[in-house]
This record gives sequence, structure tokens and C-alpha cells, in this order.
Amino acid sequence: MASNITFTMIKPDAVEANNIGPILAMINKAGFRILAMKYMKLTKEQAGQFYLVHKERPFFGELTEYMSGGPIVAAVLTKENAVADYRQLIGATDPTKAENGTIRKLFAKSIAANAVHGSDSDENAQIESDFFFSNLERF
Ligand code: RTP
Ligand code: MG
Repeated sequence: MASNITFTMIKPDAVEANNIGPILAMINKAGFRILAMKYMKLTKEQAGQFYLVHKERPFFGELTEYMSGGPIVAAVLTKENAVADYRQLIGATDPTKAENGTIRKLFAKSIAANAVHGSDSDENAQIESDFFFSNLERF
């Protein structure tokens, strides 16, 4: 069954570059509605818990350091086929490989500082949304 929610973060590099507004505008223009949203800073431990699947990867330390290095915007988005459509909107992990017009092509600085996160499956969209938001915070 197609999913209708996905989870995103606007990462520290994009917040620092003052690109929260333009990225949210692209998300809305692409047909996503925002169900939940918060502006916050993760601790290194919270970043590690969020990216636990990457614990054994060589870039894990760099990733958690980076994701806790400045504030982020976390949001739950809804749209038909949300997970796949959002991955398409954000583009490839490495911005040099991202298609023209994607969020990462436009705003990412590097493979590590790549502007946004997007869930990679319906199951992870649920887990990641639950990590950040209670039911009282979703509309
Ligand atoms: P994300 O989870 O943030 O949406 O990114 P993704 O699915 O496109 O990529 P993933 O493989 O899940 O990697 C998670 C994040 O780790 C950082 N990364 N750094 N230095 C590196 O080689 C490297 N590879 C990955 C990126 O910030 C990536 O988004
Ligand atoms: Mg991922």
C-alpha cells in the first residue's frame, strides 16, 4: 500500500544558510501538507539514536556531530505516495548526483551537509515521526 506520510528534517547547513523558507515553499508547492513541525536542536546522543541504522558506518561520528551542531526543523508531511515522492523531490544523497530542480541540488553543500533528510520507507516514516512528535502535536 502507498504511504501517505513521510518525515523530514531541514538540516543545520540549510538552517544556517537561511533556507528554511525556500525549502518549505518547495515542499508545499510539490503538494505536501505539514502535519507537524518543530524548530529545535538535537543533542549528539539524540542524533545518534535517530541515525542508529548507520552506527557501523565510517561517517557515523561525523554525521551525529554535524546533525547536533546547529538547529534543525523537523516535520511530518502528508501526500499520496509521500515517501517515494518526497525522495524524488529531495534528490540523491550526494548533491553532485542530484537532479536539477531537487532540494539537494539547489541547497545542499556536500554529501554530509545535504540540506534535508527524507524517510526511506513507510515503516521508517512512522518510526521517525514518533521519535519527534506525540499525537497531540499532529494536525
Ligand atoms: P537521509 O537519511 O539524511 O535522508 O539521507 P539518505 O537517505 O539520502 O542517505 P543515507 O544513506 O541514509 O545517509 C544518511 C546521511 O548520512 C550522511 N552521509 N555522509 N560522508 C559520507 O560519505 C556520508 N554518506 C552519508 C548524509 O548526511 C546522509 O544524508
Ligand atoms: Mg536515509
